[in-house]
Amino acid sequence: MPARKKLLAAVQRAAEILRSGGLVVFPTETVYGLGADAESPAAVARIFAAKGRPADHPLIVHMARHDHLNQWSRDIPPAAFVLARRYWPGPLTLILHRACRVPDGVTGGQDTVGLRVPDHPLALMLLEAFGGGIAAPSANRFGQVSPTTVAHVREELGDAMDFILDGGPCRVGIESTILDLSGHQPRLLRPGAITLAEIEAVLEQSVISQGNDALRAPGMLRSHYAPRTPLYLVRTGLLKAEICWRIRQGQRIGVLAMPATQLPESCLRHHMPPHPAGWARELYAQLRALDQQALDGLLIEAPPSGADWQAVSDRLVRAASAHTALRF
Ligand code: TXA
Ligand code: MG
Repeated sequence: MPARKKLLAAVQRAAEILRSGGLVVFPTETVYGLGADAESPAAVARIFAAKGRPADHPLIVHMARHDHLNQWSRDIPPAAFVLARRYWPGPLTLILHRACRVPDGVTGGQDTVGLRVPDHPLALMLLEAFGGGIAAPSANRFGQVSPTTVAHVREELGDAMDFILDGGPCRVGIESTILDLSGHQPRLLRPGAITLAEIEAVLEQSVISQGNDALRAPGMLRSHYAPRTPLYLVRTGLLKAEICWRIRQGQRIGVLAMPATQLPESCLRHHMPPHPAGWARELYAQLRALDQQALDGLLIEAPPSGADWQAVSDRLVRAASAHTALRF
């Protein structure tokens, strides 16, 4: 069968599986999702079981088009339409008051729902073929690093899914920006590739940055996105001394660093790209690869403090928090 025909057949099969209450892993531009029919409480319950995720942590509903917004939410503020037109398909999730179509199981009983249109051809083909909304979290076990390839998904979930659509490595590499538009003022719940400054410029309005009360989203738990190996975030000026000290202690160390940073040869080291988009794209794959080396610790050079680095820094701080070992 020619490649295109094979692809269409796979998408049709995946859509049928969704219709029959099954779980489908699919690629998005950010990370892989574990999808189910958003309107089937039984199928949605299977997602929580597969991930080991507490039931009160809501799921994002993925839609085929930005003009489906009013099928899934109500009392929609003008800002939502502006952002939807500007950024969808794309790595932005909007939190809005939910329409009655959205079951309790998707929202964890909350009155709001997270919505987004993913920017990946396979995800969009699947959504079109299925015809409904797809509820999908990242396709990893609860609290673990999100998968950016199908191999990562298999490591995480084994065969808990009924079908996998393989779209290769994800382009963005970290989860979508989440913006809560259900209150009086827009509030950033999770930084991502679309930055706070970009959203403020488009809305011509200030956005509240994430606060300590934002534990509604599990991505906001301090120790989320954590590899199993202890991870330390280290300032550039201290990195070399920290590596040498640990090596002298007999530790086996893995290091991720900026391109210009010189590193001793006696550690497992990888130079990351010089820009935040490159870090985002590689970060989870590198963390996974290092996590499999049975190392005593991962040292990560703290990236620059600029606003462009907010999303990458957020994931790194959370990964480090699991081991309460920030070296600033
Ligand atoms: O890029 C992404 O957003 C990926 C891809 C697959 O779309 N999805 C993803 O889903 O990261 P998940 O479930 O791993 O993270 C979604 C976050 C969670 O922290 C969840 O609590 C939050 O979105 N969320 C969903 N609905 C919400 C709501 N109504 N209110 C507040 N937070 C919500
Ligand atoms: Mg997740």
